[in-house]
Amino acid sequence: MDIRSFLFISFKLLCFFYEFSYASDTISSSQSIGDDGRTLVSEDGTFELGFFSPGSSKNRYVGIWYKNIPVKTVVWVANRVNPINDSSGLLVINSTGSLLVLSQNKTVVWSANSTKEAKSLVVLQLLNSGNLVLRDEQTDDLGSYLWQSFDYPSDTLLPEMKLGWDLKTGLERRLSSWKSLDDPSPGDFTMGVQIQDNPEVVIWKGSNKFFRTGLWNGLRFGGLMSILPNPVFGVNFVSNEDELYFTFNVKDKSVISIIVMNQTRYLQEQLTWSETTQSWNVYSYMPRDHCDNYGLCGAYGNCITTRSPICQCFEGFKPKSIGYMDWSQGCIRNKPLNYSKLDGFIKFDGLKWPDATHSWVNSSMNLRQCREKCLDNPSCMAYTNSDIRGEGSGCAMWFGDLIDIRQYSDSGQDLYIRMSASELGTKDGTKMKIVVIVVTTTATVAGVLIVGCYIYKSKKKLDNNLSLTGHAWKLWEEGKALDLIDPFFRESCNASEAIRCIHISLLCMEQQADDRPTMSFVVLMLGSETALLPQPKQPGFLMDRKSLEPDPSSKPQCSSCNEVTISLLDAR
Ligand SMILES: *[C@@H]1O[C@H](CO)[C@@H](O)[C@H](O)[C@H]1NC(C)=O
Ligand SMILES: *[C@@H]1O[C@H](CO)[C@@H](O)[C@H](O)[C@H]1NC(C)=O
Ligand SMILES: *[C@@H]1O[C@H](CO)[C@@H](O)[C@H](O)[C@H]1NC(C)=O
Ligand SMILES: *[C@@H]1O[C@H](CO)[C@@H](O)[C@H](O)[C@H]1NC(C)=O
Ligand SMILES: *[C@@H]1O[C@H](CO)[C@@H](O)[C@H](O)[C@H]1NC(C)=O
Ligand SMILES: *[C@@H]1O[C@H](CO)[C@@H](O)[C@H](O)[C@H]1NC(C)=O
Ligand SMILES: *[C@@H]1O[C@H](CO)[C@@H](O)[C@H](O)[C@H]1NC(C)=O
Repeated sequence: MDIRSFLFISFKLLCFFYEFSYASDTISSSQSIGDDGRTLVSEDGTFELGFFSPGSSKNRYVGIWYKNIPVKTVVWVANRVNPINDSSGLLVINSTGSLLVLSQNKTVVWSANSTKEAKSLVVLQLLNSGNLVLRDEQTDDLGSYLWQSFDYPSDTLLPEMKLGWDLKTGLERRLSSWKSLDDPSPGDFTMGVQIQDNPEVVIWKGSNKFFRTGLWNGLRFGGLMSILPNPVFGVNFVSNEDELYFTFNVKDKSVISIIVMNQTRYLQEQLTWSETTQSWNVYSYMPRDHCDNYGLCGAYGNCITTRSPICQCFEGFKPKSIGYMDWSQGCIRNKPLNYSKLDGFIKFDGLKWPDATHSWVNSSMNLRQCREKCLDNPSCMAYTNSDIRGEGSGCAMWFGDLIDIRQYSDSGQDLYIRMSASELGTKDGTKMKIVVIVVTTTATVAGVLIVGCYIYKSKKKLDNNLSLTGHAWKLWEEGKALDLIDPFFRESCNASEAIRCIHISLLCMEQQADDRPTMSFVVLMLGSETALLPQPKQPGFLMDRKSLEPDPSSKPQCSSCNEVTISLLDAR
């Protein structure tokens, strides 16, 4: 062994011990990390911070990566836009407590924006979460940092990292793609939370919307089919006065999982490290198909991947222009709206909810209140339950033209779209006929039962513990009165007339006889679309089904039965 080899090996050994003895997760004021192989390592050994060169580039950057993953995966970069072109870089906390990246001639290439004043000695620590934090050494409250890298994301969302807004300080945390594998400076694609009445997560290409993850529906984002709460991952969307953000967490700490906004326009959801294959598994990515392209089909167009053309107009609408493949023009109504209570709604299901830039949400309203509020507002074009969990709750409304809607083959959502009454009523051209049987016993109106084609007769769907009246009342309370009507006829029936009929029936069954309308008033109400009806109270007859349903054998007992058949005049 010649003297040079000996010296070289000795030098390497020295470096090794030097590195080993300094493998720490913390540096403090006036200390630094140079571009000499030294790094900070989080206490549990998961993350490492130091200088690196991306891809085939020779530029040097300060970054954080997974220490134990052989495929170098950089999750955060400090001097993204200002690389250092030699090995003179230095990460340092200067004597007044600022975190800086310096190049050769002590030029500042990057500095951390800490807004708070340090009270004592400042330390920089790489936490087990991958968060690089600057804090007062003396601080007891580990959450109060002078600065943290989680507030300035690169292209990667780590578990527990917030994507979105600190509304108090106005700080926005967005993911931004790298320009290329060799260049971590911000590329075209960013992902963040759009502040609006009903906020949603959006991917932008430059300043244009590129893909919407869809609205949070209480369970998940409607447009992301894979980020679902499950035993391994938890997903959370927080929207309150102080904060507006999305996070995910991994319940099994041995699972390594991240979300990446990658440079080739894909949001890679839950990249999960596989020990077996020693590579990242892409659990899912977005956008997936043509229909994920923002606003592809224009206003009132429904994007359906299995149809040709994939852009279809909703029922009640027709293409605005017959022009060749010009979908962006969207669709227009066959029949104009009245923009009043005379309009109605058609329910569509299996959808991705429309763009919510002009929207409104209230979590404590039910579907019936939601319908009324939407009908009251001439610019409200659609409504639905904002939370799909259980029976559904809350109210989401959309104003102005509806755009960026698509159809899913499964697990899409319901949407009630405003339609003119004539669109609702004349679909099959038949005259509406509602048969009302009034059963009177000993001069008391026992109730008005709607029968005939508009009653949902299938008993299997009735709540077992409730009479038909009880069932009707329950659905009315939930704002789902239309569910009373057989689905087969729902399509062809005038929704507002049917609702009105159910409304009147409920009025006839009020507990206090004095509250019930007289028969002549019932006829008047049924005949007029515009007569204002009082809100019904809970029916007095919530007895079980057996005792309420008209039983032929009980008929002789009623001394003065009247049977009234009313044909509603068609409104048009
Ligand atoms: C490094 O960058 C500096 C300016 O930032 C430039 O003057 C210098 O020539 C560059 N060195 C190399 C080796 O490219
Ligand atoms: C430390 O860095 C900050 C930010 O660049 C600067 O304002 C401050 O003067 C520096 N302190 C010293 C002692 O150089
Ligand atoms: C660094 O500073 C020295 C002297 O101050 C100067 O000669 C040299 O050109 C500088 N190098 C760069 C890359 O600016
Ligand atoms: C620091 O804050 C200024 C002003 O708020 C901003 O322009 C700049 O981009 C921030 N720098 C970093 C590294 O975040
Ligand atoms: C970006 O993500 C897509 C979808 O997972 C993948 O096919 C593509 O290779 C990724 N691009 C890069 C540069 O990693
Ligand atoms: C709405 O309907 C009423 C009653 O039919 C009618 O008088 C009014 O002109 C209509 N308004 C619009 C905007 O169509
Ligand atoms: C939401 O609706 C409830 C019930 O109608 C109402 O009391 C509340 O004020 C509404 N909240 C907002 C923010 O409009």
